[in-house]
Amino acid sequence: MNIIIGQAATGDKFYIRKKLIEKLWKTVESGNNILVAAPRRLGKTSIMLYCQESPIKNYEVIYIITESVNNQNEFYRKLVKELFDKLKASKRITNFLQKLSFSTKIISIGPEGISFENKEIDYYEEFRNIVELLEIQEYNLLLMVDEFAQTVENIMQDEGNSSAIKFLESVREIRINPKISKKIQFLFAGSIGLENIVSQLNAVSTINDLYSFKVTPFTKTEAVDYINTIPLKNEEYIFLSDDIDYLLTRLEWNIPYFINIILDEIEKICDEIDNKKISKEIIDKAFEESLKNKMYFEHWHTRLRKSYKKNAYNFSKKILNLAAEDPFVTKAEISDVAVGLEISEAYKDILNALEYDGYINNQEDKDKYVFNSPLLKAWWFNNVTN
Ligand SMILES: Nc1ncnc2c1ncn2[C@@H]1O[C@H](COP(=O)(O)OP(=O)(O)OP(=O)(O)O)[C@@H](O)[C@H]1O
Ligand SMILES: [Mg+2]
Repeated sequence: MNIIIGQAATGDKFYIRKKLIEKLWKTVESGNNILVAAPRRLGKTSIMLYCQESPIKNYEVIYIITESVNNQNEFYRKLVKELFDKLKASKRITNFLQKLSFSTKIISIGPEGISFENKEIDYYEEFRNIVELLEIQEYNLLLMVDEFAQTVENIMQDEGNSSAIKFLESVREIRINPKISKKIQFLFAGSIGLENIVSQLNAVSTINDLYSFKVTPFTKTEAVDYINTIPLKNEEYIFLSDDIDYLLTRLEWNIPYFINIILDEIEKICDEIDNKKISKEIIDKAFEESLKNKMYFEHWHTRLRKSYKKNAYNFSKKILNLAAEDPFVTKAEISDVAVGLEISEAYKDILNALEYDGYINNQEDKDKYVFNSPLLKAWWFNNVTN
């Protein structure tokens, strides 16, 4: 089947979520700076890469990933570099590059990139100068920063909270500078929630100008359409709509990552028994088999270990254990756990983070939290609870 598991889906493996992408561009066109709000593995990077490849008419897109960046200067250095690469590649802008080399610390712009005067450069200043000088009329630049929250977290860990706050303030200053915002808009995304990190820093005001854009799981219609048009394209499988429906109902939380994991297991089982007819039994077996792939689910656990220390981590684990053992965990139980672990103040933030990061929700009943995904719930029960 035509699927990819793990890496961002691109090219003929990428299912174009037309409505969602149109909505995203509309939000961009209204002039917003955007924070993509979505749990991990929902398809954020894939969407960004698609937008970079196929932007709408009046936009040029720059995509950068800043996961390993751990200081402010490095962040802006990366921005400057990518901006240049983009400008160089874009024919509309060549004159500007000549002019620029006289007005900033740049000494040359060649095929290998740009070089600067040989001294300590404040790339934040450099970035601001360059964008302020930039003359573009007919289009805007959309700068997509993937794994931005990871950068903030890196700075917190390496240089402390106050540096991280200063960094967030610098990025905000750039966004709200009218000379810059007319030309460049930002979109931030990442597999860890920026809101959670910023609220740990007590610095929500540094991101309150961002428009929160939600990426939701596939709707049932999208999921059916996806399965039929991409993984099954040019394949001989017999997969009746009733059985596709059965798969999606079992999955409940229809994120493409989980759909692909199950389809991959189905393919392996079919290969083994040399049968192309996908039955409910095969689907059930595929669910079972998928749980043996530690790698697919492990990051949901390791992420918590990394984010939280001691009792905060114990709290998150305990809540998920309870939700994995039983059909749900109640608000009262949650608050009892928090009191027992002596985090009755801090626990609400952690609970919010568990919701935001896609582990649990209380949408059906405000008093009861359940796992979003029965698949993740089963994995958690087998590997963490027990
Ligand atoms: N539009 C899509 N079409 C097909 N498969 C997709 C699509 N979006 C996501 N996937 C599946 O989900 C996986 C994760 O996608 P992607 O890396 O884009 O998600 P993400 O939200 O950026 O994840 P993370 O939160 O870990 O950064 C892909 O490997 C692929 O299996
Ligand atoms: Mg990603």
